[in-house]
Amino acid sequence: MASFSISVLLLLALGVTALAEPVRFLDCGSQVGKIEEVDVIPCSTQPCKLHKGESYSVNVTFVSGVPSQNSTALVHGILMGIEVPFPIPQPDGCKCGINCPIEKGKTYSYLNKLPVKSEYPKMKLVVKWTLLDDKKNTLFCWEIPIEIVVIKIQWQDKSQEDW
Ligand SMILES: *[C@@H]1O[C@H](CO)[C@@H](O)[C@H](O)[C@H]1NC(C)=O
Ligand SMILES: *[C@@H]1O[C@H](CO)[C@@H](O)[C@H](O)[C@H]1NC(C)=O
Repeated sequence: MASFSISVLLLLALGVTALAEPVRFLDCGSQVGKIEEVDVIPCSTQPCKLHKGESYSVNVTFVSGVPSQNSTALVHGILMGIEVPFPIPQPDGCKCGINCPIEKGKTYSYLNKLPVKSEYPKMKLVVKWTLLDDKKNTLFCWEIPIEIVVIKIQWQDKSQEDW
């Protein structure tokens, strides 16, 4: 029984690693950079279903077309066509995996977290993530649809599996 649980855990762990797959995104006007890949981890099905009270890793791989001293991120939620600012704990791009100053033609991986607060309502929305350079031009801008969901209670799932 114990070894069975361990193999299940191992399978789950392997599954989570395999979930680091690029998501389909819409480019919303990257002026001075080019997006190569956007990863949201974990996101097993698209649109990504994000659980309340959990935090998601974001990894954006992009090529900068300009040199820049700094970079600043802006995140918005788009609900029924209305853009609502979505505060993130670390808006400074240079503290998110980017070695500043940014060099022209270099590839960067921007790494940040998307915290989904437990007080957010259950809803579908579009997340818009922008990174600005030191002249306020857009290094990258991408949009992905997401769904904020409530985690299912474990014992309910378990009772269905057990018989
Ligand atoms: C971010 O994504 C890039 C491209 O897939 C990958 O090379 C890099 O290792 C990733 N970084 C992290 C910290 O996962
Ligand atoms: C980024 O650099 C520009 C140009 O040096 C400066 O005007 C701007 O205030 C800086 N922004 C931040 C957030 O440090």
